[in-house]
Amino acid sequence: MINPIYSPLENRYTNGMRYRRCGKSGILLPEVSLGLWHNFGDVDLFSNSQRMAHYAFDHGITHFDLANNYGPSFGSAEETFGQIMKKSFAPYRDELLISTKAGHDMWEGPYGCMGSRKHLISSLNQSLKRMQLEYVDIFYSHRYDPTTPLEETLQALVDIVRQGKALYIGISKYPKEAAEVAYRYLREHDVPCLIYQGRYNIFDQEVQTSGILEQAKEAGAGCIAFSPLAQGLLTNRYLNGVPKDSRIARGGFLKKEQLTDEVLRKIRALDVIATEREQTLAEMALAWLLKDDSVASVIIGSSSVEQMQDNLKGLSNIQFSTEELERIKAVLQEKI
Ligand SMILES: NC(=O)c1ccc[n+]([C@@H]2O[C@H](COP(=O)([O-])OP(=O)(O)OC[C@H]3O[C@@H](n4cnc5c(N)ncnc54)[C@H](OP(=O)(O)O)[C@@H]3O)[C@@H](O)[C@H]2O)c1
Repeated sequence: MINPIYSPLENRYTNGMRYRRCGKSGILLPEVSLGLWHNFGDVDLFSNSQRMAHYAFDHGITHFDLANNYGPSFGSAEETFGQIMKKSFAPYRDELLISTKAGHDMWEGPYGCMGSRKHLISSLNQSLKRMQLEYVDIFYSHRYDPTTPLEETLQALVDIVRQGKALYIGISKYPKEAAEVAYRYLREHDVPCLIYQGRYNIFDQEVQTSGILEQAKEAGAGCIAFSPLAQGLLTNRYLNGVPKDSRIARGGFLKKEQLTDEVLRKIRALDVIATEREQTLAEMALAWLLKDDSVASVIIGSSSVEQMQDNLKGLSNIQFSTEELERIKAVLQEKI
């Protein structure tokens, strides 16, 4: 069958998406971004990955978040995205904000992970080839590496921008002290850090409680939340058991052991609050993050277009009453 030529919806910037400034930069991020950690690998159906990417762009999602090792197999999500670039998105490159990362396990041997200049620069060169891109918009140090001098990592990031291989720099999961050094070093080298990427959701509020959100704000960096649905726990996915096609059943980073009776009780209680708000739990979980304007965007994952439809509906009501917020807190403390 001949592939139909993709042409994005003409109303993609007026059909519901809002954009927020990322820190003190010139960049506007869609409130919802799409992450390619799962469901875009070579084990997945290309047609489904492509459908989700098209649906995203058609609904104003301009930001696609990748990393060198997303798949499985490692590198294959970038290859899938490269195919989508070639087949569909090439004419729209300047409408897209594409990020990738290096730092976690990627290839064999001593240079295949962590924060050395060798790893970061070699990895980005590979990523650009896989994605069929000349540059990425954001390149991240995927994690803090305590075994490499931080200045080496940061100078490599500065040089990557100078080489034109990335327009902006981000840091991911850096502890507060290392983030402070990074913000200062990058600013002093005229490559201010655009963005901090951290796990943030109703169940895991550490970036907020540890002051990382506030610190990013003071440094002029935006904050983007990953795993906003706690990998699917904060949705209706596990309310009635573990579906065969779910992330838990497929085995991976979300383990069955994480779905304890206590977690399930909390999910059910949060679902009651969501229903009263006339939202699904997924919609409420995203809205809960977006109520705070120090969150520039949430990076969702999804395994189907239907999930994306559900998630984007969450944007329509991001206001919470004090009572609702108190009830959510009480659920987390099991005071319900
Ligand atoms: N910087 C880092 O270290 C780091 C780490 C992790 C993630 N990330 C980024 O963050 C992105 C998102 O992470 P994530 O995939 O964990 O995000 P998530 O949004 O918390 O979880 C996504 C999963 O939740 C389920 N889901 C989504 N919407 C649903 C809905 N409406 N109803 C029912 N189930 C729904 C799907 O699971 P099923 O597969 O079961 O359908 C989906 O794959 C990644 O792709 C990556 O870009 C970054």
